[in-house]
Amino acid sequence: MNSNELTNNTLFTKEFTKNPYPTYAKLRETEPVYRILLPDGQYGWMITRYEDAIEALKDLRLIKNFSKLTGENEGYDSIFTHNMLFSDPPDHKRLRGLVQKAFTPRMIAEMRDRIQEITDDLLDEIAKKDSMNLIDDLAFPLPIIVICEILGVPSEDRDKFRIWSNSLIEGTNGEHAKDMAVHMQEFTKYLGDRFSKVRESPGEDLISQLIMAEEEGDKLTEKELYGVVSLLIIAGHETTVNLIGNSILSFLEHPDQLQLLQDHPEMIHTALEESLRYNGPVEFSTSRWAREDFEFKGKEISKGDLVIIALNSANHDPNQFTDPEVFDITREKSPHLAFGKGIHLCLGAPLARLEGEIAISSLLQRFPQIKLRVDTNELEWRPGMVVRGVKEIPLSF
Ligand code: HEM
Repeated sequence: MNSNELTNNTLFTKEFTKNPYPTYAKLRETEPVYRILLPDGQYGWMITRYEDAIEALKDLRLIKNFSKLTGENEGYDSIFTHNMLFSDPPDHKRLRGLVQKAFTPRMIAEMRDRIQEITDDLLDEIAKKDSMNLIDDLAFPLPIIVICEILGVPSEDRDKFRIWSNSLIEGTNGEHAKDMAVHMQEFTKYLGDRFSKVRESPGEDLISQLIMAEEEGDKLTEKELYGVVSLLIIAGHETTVNLIGNSILSFLEHPDQLQLLQDHPEMIHTALEESLRYNGPVEFSTSRWAREDFEFKGKEISKGDLVIIALNSANHDPNQFTDPEVFDITREKSPHLAFGKGIHLCLGAPLARLEGEIAISSLLQRFPQIKLRVDTNELEWRPGMVVRGVKEIPLSF
C-alpha cells in the first residue's frame, strides 16, 4: 500500500472506526509517518510506530498552542483551549502545577473507599433491573460523579456535561459545528454561574482553590480558569467511560481471559493495563503543530504542519509488543502509550486506573454471568478523532 491507495476512503470510515488495527498494521509497515487528509479538510501527518510515537510525544518542536505560531487567536479562543493540554512551556508547567497536587497517586488512593461506594450504589441500581446498558448505568456515571466531587460541582448536572462534552468531542465539522457553538455557550454560562457561587462561599474543592489562584493575580487568568475546569470535567470522564466500556468488551470477546480474571481477581492490575494497550480509549494524541521546518524519519515536516500520533497503533506495534493482536492479561511488561508520554502525560492516569480497576472488579464480582445482548458487529462506535468507544453496551446478567 502506498499513500495514494490509502485515502480518506479508507481512513475515518465506519469500518476504520470499528476496527482500525489492520489499517494501522499496513501504515506501520509501509508509511509510518503518513501524509493524511483529515476529516475537516486539513492535511497533516500521522505517526503510527511505537518508537516514533515516543519521539514525537517528547519533541518540543511539536507545539500545542497554534496561536503562538500564527499570532492569531482564531480557533484558540474557545472555553476549552486555555489549559495545560493546549499549552507549551512555560505556561504548561504553571497550569499543570496548579492542579497536579490533587491528582497524585497518594491523593487518589485516599479516594478508594468513596469510589467503591459510588460503584456499589450504581450496581445496586442495576441489580433492580432485568438488564443493563453498561455505558449509561456504570461507565458514564462513575467517573463523572467522581470528577464532579473533586471539583465541587453538583453531580446531578452530569447529563448536561455529557451533552456538552459529546458535542465537543464528536462534532468538529459540518452540522455538528453549529450545535457545538451553542453547547459551548451553555457550558461557559454554566461555569460562569458556578464560579460566582464559589466566589461568594468558597469550600475545600478544586474549583475554590483555582479561584483563589485566579484572585491572587499572576497565577491563572479568567480564561484559564474556564479552560482548566472544562478540561478536567471533559477529560475526567470521557476517557474513563471508554476505558470501562472497551475493557469489558475485550473480556466478553475473550472468554478465556474473562475466566482467568474471575479465577484470579488479583490480576486486575495487569488486566487493566492490557485493556488499555489492546483497545485504548484515546485513539490519537491531540493535535500538535510544527514550530519550525524539520526532518522526521525521512519526511520533511514544514512549519505549521499538523501532527497526530496514533496511540492505539503504537500500542499494537510488533516491534514493541509480542503478538500485539492477542489480548493477554498475563502480559507483564506493558509500557503502552494509552496515557501519552512526555510533558502532557495524562494527569488523571492514577484516578482513571483506580476507577477502572474498581468498576471492572466490582462488576464482574457482582454479575459474574454478564453477556452481550447484541452481536459485536451491531455495536455503534463513536465518531470523532480522539475518543475510541461504543455508544451503548447492552448486557444481560
Ligand atoms: C492528557 C489519556 C483519564 C486529565 C491526556 C493525554 C492522554 C490521556 C493520551 C495526552 C494527550 C496528548 O498528549 O495529546 C487518558 C486516558 C484516560 C484519561 C486513556 C482514561 C482511561 C483522565 C482523567 C483525567 C484526565 C480521569 C482527570 C482528572 C488529563 C489532563 C491532561 C490529560 C488534565 C492534560 C495534561 C497536560 O497537558 O499536561 N490524557 N486520560 N485524564 N488527561 Fe487524561
